[in-house]
Amino acid sequence: MKPPLSDDALDLLFRKARTHHTWLPQPVSDEELRALYDLVKWGPTSANTCPARFVFLRTPEAKQRLKPALSPGNVDKTMAAPVTAIIATDFKFYEKMGKLFPHNAAMGERFAGNPQMAEITAFRNGTLEGGYFILAARAVGLDCGAMSGFDNAKVDAEFFPGGSIKSNFLCNLGHGDPSKLMERHPRLDFDEACQLL
Ligand SMILES: Cc1cc2nc3c(=O)[nH]c(=O)nc-3n(C[C@H](O)[C@H](O)[C@H](O)COP(=O)(O)O)c2cc1C
Repeated sequence: MKPPLSDDALDLLFRKARTHHTWLPQPVSDEELRALYDLVKWGPTSANTCPARFVFLRTPEAKQRLKPALSPGNVDKTMAAPVTAIIATDFKFYEKMGKLFPHNAAMGERFAGNPQMAEITAFRNGTLEGGYFILAARAVGLDCGAMSGFDNAKVDAEFFPGGSIKSNFLCNLGHGDPSKLMERHPRLDFDEACQLL
């Protein structure tokens, strides 16, 4: 069976893609960030809710606003990365359902009237979109360094004072220095992670 993507593409997306902590002095353009989002947005979400929101920090001033929220081990690599993305979730995503789910406008009201369902839907699908984000970044030729080591409340107070959008995780973007990578950690084998029933 021939894979629909070439071996090179599978290496780029998965097998040879690594989490980077050291960055080459090669910039990332706004056009690349737009190309990245133009792939992310096609990833599926339940009822097409699209709850993820992305803030790209590209300037030293923007990075300084993030710095106090970072765990000590994440400061230097984040300050050095060409771009740091805040992958966030809009817990009032249902306000956009008129555009996103036009054939069933009542869907938005269903979420608005059921906060528990709205919250789990937002977190599940926003996190899925975060995964699409990493793969899309790799697909447009960027390297990633995802991070959950930060103070979410501090980031939310600084960047999302409205209260309905909350940070999920951060992702440094750029061109990683492959010479600085440690050996890759193993993954679970099929039989450890999967069941065939
Ligand atoms: C959601 C998420 C959060 C992470 N948080 C951190 C972090 O705070 N600091 C860090 O150094 N690495 C962090 N990592 C990196 C992981 O440890 C790394 O992706 C994993 O060990 C696999 O490494 P590899 O992609 O090189 O195989 C995070 C990764 C993900 C996906």
